[in-house]
Amino acid sequence: MKAAIIRQTGAPDVIEYGDLPTPEPRPTEVLVKVGAVAVNPIDTYIRAGVVSMISHFPYIIGCDLAGTVEKVGSEVKRFKAGDRVWGSNQGLFGRRGSFAEYASVDERWLYATPAKQSDEEAAAGALVGLTAHMGLFLHAELSPGEVVFVNGGSGGVGSSVVQLAKAAGAFVITTGGSEQSMDICRKLGADLVLDYNSHNLDDQIRAFSLPHGGIHVWFETQREPTLDRTVSSMAPRGRIILMAGRAARPEFPVGPFYVKDLRMIGFAMFNGSPEEQRAAADKLNTLYEFKRWKPMIGKVLPLSDAPLAHQMQEDNTLQKQGTIHGKIVLTP
Ligand SMILES: NC(=O)c1ccc[n+]([C@@H]2O[C@H](COP(=O)([O-])OP(=O)(O)OC[C@H]3O[C@@H](n4cnc5c(N)ncnc54)[C@H](OP(=O)(O)O)[C@@H]3O)[C@@H](O)[C@H]2O)c1
Repeated sequence: MKAAIIRQTGAPDVIEYGDLPTPEPRPTEVLVKVGAVAVNPIDTYIRAGVVSMISHFPYIIGCDLAGTVEKVGSEVKRFKAGDRVWGSNQGLFGRRGSFAEYASVDERWLYATPAKQSDEEAAAGALVGLTAHMGLFLHAELSPGEVVFVNGGSGGVGSSVVQLAKAAGAFVITTGGSEQSMDICRKLGADLVLDYNSHNLDDQIRAFSLPHGGIHVWFETQREPTLDRTVSSMAPRGRIILMAGRAARPEFPVGPFYVKDLRMIGFAMFNGSPEEQRAAADKLNTLYEFKRWKPMIGKVLPLSDAPLAHQMQEDNTLQKQGTIHGKIVLTP
């Protein structure tokens, strides 16, 4: 089978598109004929060697996938040949990655794909949808009528947070860096869309949120959080979600934080148990069927263009070029 692999960590051009033997599913695994995969920032950190997750080379890159079950291992209970499935969490903790024509995946990490959802869309929503869902509900315990703030509402995680928070009956404030980004945020249903370069951004956030008591859930997608700003905008008993910026060491306003009874929660989606992730996936599937969740696709490329896809992801997440709106999806 064709696969996008690396034999060493490094720049995007260490990715090779070559041949590997098609895997045989172990007893609890499902062999998926991959229809689409999606790129995430963590794929680029693993490839670059910044995050150590590779147990051996050659390493197949990639977390997310969607496709059709080709065959199942002897102990698989939930799937059979011909079922359409999607999932994430591959290429992590010694698991093989997803960027290949076939992927053998433990059934714990797979979910049924809604009938009307394409493989491209299912792959595009995998890691970001699970992240947004677990962040908002498992960790931040969002309630209807609360105010959610998320930076970058047209980004992978941000666009998911906007949609899921709206579907839960929250008021959503988000930001974009261009008219195109802000237009996407409005179309996703955000109540207030602001330019993150605006000189009076915080005044505008406060004018909207203070009548509701402030921000109840601040979902920070940026790698350099500004905690002084965040804490001052929060409602009493608000929750701040931190999930980006491994190297960030921002100043922390202890006094303003504790006198409001605030909570700050860090999480990485890949630490979620299979049960927690499946609960989130089931909710995402239901929301898709009710047209309340639609993963955003920014670009579709052939799998052989995996090096280009990684370069584009880095250009946007690390260099903040703002040239991709939605996920980069690849098809074998
Ligand atoms: N902890 C976890 O489990 C987890 C899971 C997924 C992702 N992450 C991390 O979360 C971060 C975001 O991931 P992603 O996939 O959503 O990335 P992404 O698709 O590249 O999105 C980045 C977003 O940031 C916005 N942005 C850029 N500069 C900004 C600024 N100065 N102020 C506010 N917003 C700004 C961009 O808006 P414009 O396009 O309008 O400029 C874009 O919407 C990454 O660091 C990733 O590693 C963590």
